Amino acid sequence: MTESAVPRPSTGDYAGLRRVLTYGTYDLLHYGHVRLLRRAAALGDYLVVGLSTDEFNALKGKESFYSYDVRKEMLESVRYVDLVIPERDWNQKADDIKNYGIDVVVMGSDWAGDPRFECLKEFCEVVYLDRTDGISTTDVKTELSAG
Ligand code: CTP
Repeated sequence: MTESAVPRPSTGDYAGLRRVLTYGTYDLLHYGHVRLLRRAAALGDYLVVGLSTDEFNALKGKESFYSYDVRKEMLESVRYVDLVIPERDWNQKADDIKNYGIDVVVMGSDWAGDPRFECLKEFCEVVYLDRTDGISTTDVKTELSAG
């Protein structure tokens, strides 16, 4: 389904729902991601994921194993995720909150206190959830390449 064909959470049947937004790269989708998404979804009724594009990752000095399109396809298959939108730069968050009628932004605790998320408290709730111990995309890549 194209992005434009997906109902906006602030319209139609989705109006009145508590909407949650989170961001990330979600490369090599793993159980730490799934647990974060499950707990984020439990904070509301409709979960939007801002997925870092390949170009934005390059800007952050990151290169994902899977392309944006594949990462998006996988996230869309997770039952907790209602909508995936592109995260193209650091400064789009206030616009996303407005455009998607977001009530709460959720991030993993690795982002706790970061001014890029703290400043969003002006527009909505900001919640940091504990990360799952012992797993990250970086760990998976390192362990697989060590053989
Ligand atoms: N996350 C989590 N627990 C983990 C790994 C990630 O809760 N063990 C959360 C992050 O806090 C973030 C989201 O999942 O809110 C997406 O994280 P991302 O950076 O894409 O995944 P990482 O596995 O942390 O990737 P990397 O090693 O490249 O930083």
